[in-house]
Amino acid sequence: MKIVLATNNKNKLREVREILEPAGLTVLSQSEAGADIEVEESGKTFAENAYLKAKAVFDLTGLPVIADDSGLEVDALNGAPGVFSARYAPEGQRRKRILSELENVPDEKRGAAFVSCICYIDPNGEPRYFTGKVFGTIGYENRGTNGFGYDSIFMYGDRSFAEMSAEEKNEVSHRANALKQLKEFFSSNGTNNV
Ligand code: IMP
Repeated sequence: MKIVLATNNKNKLREVREILEPAGLTVLSQSEAGADIEVEESGKTFAENAYLKAKAVFDLTGLPVIADDSGLEVDALNGAPGVFSARYAPEGQRRKRILSELENVPDEKRGAAFVSCICYIDPNGEPRYFTGKVFGTIGYENRGTNGFGYDSIFMYGDRSFAEMSAEEKNEVSHRANALKQLKEFFSSNGTNNV
């Protein structure tokens, strides 16, 4: 039971493996599957971008594929950066940009959510979508050194995602939530074709 994850992001690959491999699935990276590509994320929604990535890798490998398109939605920024999360500022400045945009925003208006849309393309080329969300708030500074991306400014209760262990994050995260639905889909429909 092998499935390819359409990503070049090592952190996503690690998290998806931590969540799916205990369920008996072997997750291949796209490069292990022979698809050394970078797909342009030209969609307007998480679902469109997840499909673009999954489809490009499916077309090259013919194997069942999943892709995750994810991002951070900040209430005080009307949902930004959203699908632009990976491009919100140059590398290393994205969290800083959000912290400064929220500089004078009070506690009760600092709500945010991480969203993950997983597109699964089955061996017949049929896409299916699973969306997970986790709600939290934007902190006032970077906290913690675990995780990646926006984890150190995303507060889940009184700790940031970067202060939680991988196991703790994987119990509640947007990605875990979407992948849980995918696992439920596999348990009701079988993984024989995967
Ligand atoms: P994309 O899905 O490749 O478009 O990139 C997602 C963007 O959202 C990247 O900038 C990530 O750093 C950020 N992101 C997605 N999921 C997480 C997460 O679990 N923690 C922190 N940042 C995330």
